[in-house]
Amino acid sequence: MNHLNHPHQTPMTSPPPGLHGRFKHDPLMVLATGVLKAWFPLWGLVSRDHQVESVNRVKQLRLVGRDVVAEDEDVVAFTFADPQGGELEPWFPGAHLDVLLPSGLMREYSLCGDPGERKTYRIAVRRIPDGGGGSKEMHDVLNIGDLVGIKGPRNAFPLAMPGFGSGAKHLRFIAAGIGITPILPMLAAADRVGLDWSMLYSGRSLASIPFRDEVTKYGDRVTIRTDDEHGLPTAADLLGPLPPDTAVYTCGPVPMLESIRRELVGRPDVELHYERFSPPPVEDGKPFTITLKSGETIGVAADETALSALLKSRPHTPYSCRQGFCGTCRVRVTDGEIDHRDSLLTEPERADGIMLACISRAAGDHLAVDL
Ligand code: FES
Repeated sequence: MNHLNHPHQTPMTSPPPGLHGRFKHDPLMVLATGVLKAWFPLWGLVSRDHQVESVNRVKQLRLVGRDVVAEDEDVVAFTFADPQGGELEPWFPGAHLDVLLPSGLMREYSLCGDPGERKTYRIAVRRIPDGGGGSKEMHDVLNIGDLVGIKGPRNAFPLAMPGFGSGAKHLRFIAAGIGITPILPMLAAADRVGLDWSMLYSGRSLASIPFRDEVTKYGDRVTIRTDDEHGLPTAADLLGPLPPDTAVYTCGPVPMLESIRRELVGRPDVELHYERFSPPPVEDGKPFTITLKSGETIGVAADETALSALLKSRPHTPYSCRQGFCGTCRVRVTDGEIDHRDSLLTEPERADGIMLACISRAAGDHLAVDL
C-alpha cells in the first residue's frame, strides 16, 4: 500500500482547470500560466497570495436551494450562490467549505456539486441529533434566502488524476453514507475524462443512502451494498478485486477506513487516499491535566483529546474539523510543554504557545491555557 498524505490545500500556483468544464488542466491556461511565470517572476507569488487570501476571506453567500437527498430525510443538500449572481471561486473534487453558522459554530462540509458549475456551491449534511450541534443548526435554522458566511473552498482530499499527477491506471472509489459527498464530484471527473473506475457505495439501508439517483446513472460501475440486506461489509468486500496500479479513494467512518488500510498492507502497487468524517483515534496518548484561567483543572484521559475534555467544561469552545487541519480549535498555552501533532501551525505560532486542541496534547502531565 502506498498511503499518500494529502496536502491540506490544493497547490495555489497550478493552472486553473479547463475552461470548458473539462477536468484536465486546460492547455491554453497551462501555456498562459507558464508565459506569465517566465515573464513575470512574481506571478506565482502574487497568484498564490491572492488565492490564500480569498479562501480565508468570509464571503456572504445566499442559500438558494434546500433539497432532501435521502429517503429517510436525514440528509439535506444546501446550495449557495453569490447574492449578486457572480461567479464563485473555482474548486476541484475533494474540496470543502467552512460554513459559519448563525450561532457562531463553524463546520466543514465537502462540496458535492459540479466544479464546472461556477455560480453555485452545493454541500450535503446528515442531521446528527446527538452530535456537536452543527448539523442540527444547518437543518433547523437555515432557510432559503438566508445569507450565510462561507470560507473556502479548500482541498484536503485532492483527486490526482491518472496521467495528470498520478501513476495509477485504475480508480476504486468507496463511500459509506454521507461519505459520498467528496466522492460524488470525483466520479463525475473520472467519468468525464474516460478513466477506468468503479465504486462501492455502502449504507445502513437504501433509504439512508444519499444521492442514490446521481450514482445509479453510472450503471454497473457502481455497486450499492446495504447492511440490512448483506450485513456489514468486510474490507475485501469494499475493495473488490483490485488490479495492479489502482488508486483507492474512500470516505467514511474510522473503523471502515482502518479495515481498508489493514487489508492493503502488502500491496505497494495500490495508493490509498482517504478522508474521515470523524476524528482519528488518539495514538500513544497519556493522561494529563489542563488548567483554565479561572483556576479550574480538567483531566484529559489517555484516549481522549484535549478538545473533548475542554468541551465538557466549556461547551462553546470553537472547533470544526477535529482532525488538525482547519485551525479553529487553536488555544494559547501559557504553561507546560506541547506535543504538537498537527502539520498546520507555523513555527512562530508554536513559539507563541499556540496549540490545536483537537489533535495535540501535553508532552508532560500538565498544560495551562488562556481560556
Ligand atoms: S478543529 Fe480543526 S484544527 Fe482543530
